[in-house]
Amino acid sequence: MSGIRIAVFISGRGSNLEAIIDSIDRGQINGEIGLVISDRYKARGLKIAQKKGIESLYLGKKNYSDKYKRIDKTLQVLDDYNIDLIVLAGYMSIVNEKIVKKYRNKIMNIHPSLIPAFSGKGYYGSLVHEEVLKYGVKITGATVHFVDENTDTGPIIIQREVKVSDNETLESLSKKVLEIEHQILPEAIKLFAENKLIIEGRIVKRLTI
Ligand code: GRF
Repeated sequence: MSGIRIAVFISGRGSNLEAIIDSIDRGQINGEIGLVISDRYKARGLKIAQKKGIESLYLGKKNYSDKYKRIDKTLQVLDDYNIDLIVLAGYMSIVNEKIVKKYRNKIMNIHPSLIPAFSGKGYYGSLVHEEVLKYGVKITGATVHFVDENTDTGPIIIQREVKVSDNETLESLSKKVLEIEHQILPEAIKLFAENKLIIEGRIVKRLTI
């Protein structure tokens, strides 16, 4: 069976991109990254891709100021590179519904909380952990889910928890959750690549054979 072709969308640091690359290099994912797209010109993740010899592209307001042209260009490159799965790994833009419709249940996102807690509009980056600490929950974590037309509402693929200790800081919590992200995102991609995700409405089950 030939592997899937993945497009990873990023905006910044790219540590989740690195985790996916490592997992592929270790032979754990039956697939390859065909393309990395960033909506930020200076994203560190673009450098990571370049160093690894992975095709990468800045696609943002600077080179495609017209939103609709940007969407069409995105669709065109996804086609050109024969992409089977789009992975949003710290991507800060909203994926347009035209793309969501075309790639229904083929777009994954990683979110740094246990959805539906601390998710939706306004919950991104370290703001999520700030709210977690303010609220005083004892457990948080990370979620990989498919992307639908709304923010953080698509079918959940994997969730894993992290305990919030009494002396937790923003820094310590971000670090713990990020470690979990680096585990569950490659795991979800692996399952997708092996065709082991069964999607029934918003329920995602794993094929165990
Ligand atoms: C991660 O915490 C992810 O959950 C959030 O943005 C962060 C991206 O980190 N959406 P990186 O760019 O993968 O290092």
